Amino acid sequence: MSGMGDYSREESIFGFSGPVARIAAATIILVAITVALYSLPEKSSEWIRSREMIRKLYLFPILLSAMWFGARGAASSTVFATLVCGGLAGNAWPEEVSSQVERVGEVAVFWLVGALSASFFEQQKRFVGQIEVANDNTLIALAAALDVREHNTGVHSQRVADYTLRLARETGVRDKDTLDVFWRGALLHDVGKIGIPDQVLLKPGPLSGEEWAVMRNHPEVGSRMLRKIEFLRGPSEIVLSHHERYDGAGYPRKLKGAQITLGARLFAVIDVYDALTTDRAYHTARSHTDALNKIREGSGTHFDPAVVAAFAKIPFEELREIAKKNQTPLLFASTPVPSLHQVASVLSPGS
Ligand SMILES: [Fe+2]
Repeated sequence: MSGMGDYSREESIFGFSGPVARIAAATIILVAITVALYSLPEKSSEWIRSREMIRKLYLFPILLSAMWFGARGAASSTVFATLVCGGLAGNAWPEEVSSQVERVGEVAVFWLVGALSASFFEQQKRFVGQIEVANDNTLIALAAALDVREHNTGVHSQRVADYTLRLARETGVRDKDTLDVFWRGALLHDVGKIGIPDQVLLKPGPLSGEEWAVMRNHPEVGSRMLRKIEFLRGPSEIVLSHHERYDGAGYPRKLKGAQITLGARLFAVIDVYDALTTDRAYHTARSHTDALNKIREGSGTHFDPAVVAAFAKIPFEELREIAKKNQTPLLFASTPVPSLHQVASVLSPGS
């Protein structure tokens, strides 16, 4: 979607992003090694050492495939290298027994390296996944504690985080790291309210000028809290910008349009939608259609018009499903309820 920045990339390793580019890269390397191998004179003894060296290069695509695609990728590359080195191409199989033993040894090394590297990379992926889940559960607990204080329910933050994730996918964001940043930023948007005294935060009537000044500090306080934590640096920008407005009339920095980070522009729509469709101290819940009309009124002033258009495309049933999923605080549910964040891979804008 134009004007939103390039968030559609997949995570990148060695500059190759997306499964298709990686499959192409691994295939090109395998084919290049094979072409180099068969371009050397077959029977000439002076090229024996060179052919041996080139055959060893198959370890590189085997390792790459293990890192990119896990066990299946490593197995595919190893089978390819085995077939080539095993003499599938006719007369490549050596006549001398000692050379045959050497060739079998080479192939055994391919399989050993393939199996070990696939197991290493898959284990590493599992560990990283476990650490991410543990980190996210800590954030969910923090957000739930803040929600209980302000909203009595403990679910506002996790609900808006899941709505934001869904909206991000509707705008074409596919990169897992970017989706993580958006989800965590939305979950922690009001973490800075931790420092606001109860008499201000929970005051039933209108706030005085001084009290507003205290209240309007919370994006900066929240951002400062998160900024020093490496994996929360991205989300801290959303926290800092979540009260900015598209027309520049927001706070704290009065940013305008695309100066406001995309995550915060997405969240601005979601925060208002959630406020309008849930019972609050100052109003009862409005219908989805009413809330959508209200958001459309703010398109171009409060909200990014492209984000409003994307939000309007999300079927109401999906938003209702997200709200239903988030009726119970994730960590306090009697049976485990997966966050939408943890099942995000099954979602697609058209689903
Ligand atoms: Fe806020």
